[in-house]
Amino acid sequence: MKTLIVCYSFSGNTKKAASRLADQIGADFVQLRTVGSSVRIFSLIGGMIRACFRRAQEVMPLEEDVASYQRIVVAGPVWAGRSAPALQGFIQQYALEGKITCGLLTCDNDGRGAMSFLRKELEAAQSRCANVIAIRAEPAMLRALHSGKVQFSSQKDGKLSLQAAKEGAEDALLRDMCMQEGQEE
Ligand SMILES: Cc1cc2nc3c(=O)[nH]c(=O)nc-3n(C[C@H](O)[C@H](O)[C@H](O)COP(=O)(O)O)c2cc1C
Repeated sequence: MKTLIVCYSFSGNTKKAASRLADQIGADFVQLRTVGSSVRIFSLIGGMIRACFRRAQEVMPLEEDVASYQRIVVAGPVWAGRSAPALQGFIQQYALEGKITCGLLTCDNDGRGAMSFLRKELEAAQSRCANVIAIRAEPAMLRALHSGKVQFSSQKDGKLSLQAAKEGAEDALLRDMCMQEGQEE
């Protein structure tokens, strides 16, 4: 399934996770850049205000031909309990109708509200949202991703999953750091 990972990352955590995802499932990867101030602190404050008011952030046009991909994975951080406004910007600016979509979020604490917010945005764009997963971007999790102890995989129905490279290993890490839809708190 030809897949494009569209990633917004302010401080680099989502970029680390989404780049591993791209390598492990053989997808193309592109970073989203927002329109507006190039001064990081202003861009962060503007983004935070948008996140609090559930407003989208306009993103710069991509060179990639988004229309040519069957599946689009939208990746970014959780801001103010929602997916970062740049993801909403991308979803609203690009035609995703009929495509399979997935979400990958990183957070410090709880990504569940943001997971359902992102799913609603993807469904409002008339795409078929296969699943959304969120991971806590703590050093142990980022190390496990980097070393390949935990790995992403892609299922036939388009869903993404994250599991230990060795069966039975890293169970506690995955239970504590990875949130999947339908999973009990
Ligand atoms: C403005 C802002 C708001 C955030 N809000 C939340 C939040 O509501 N819940 C949470 O768990 N983490 C929150 N975080 C933490 C980020 O989601 C987390 O550090 C993420 O991995 C950052 O991804 P990035 O490095 O790709 O930008 C917030 C971070 C920032 C900068």
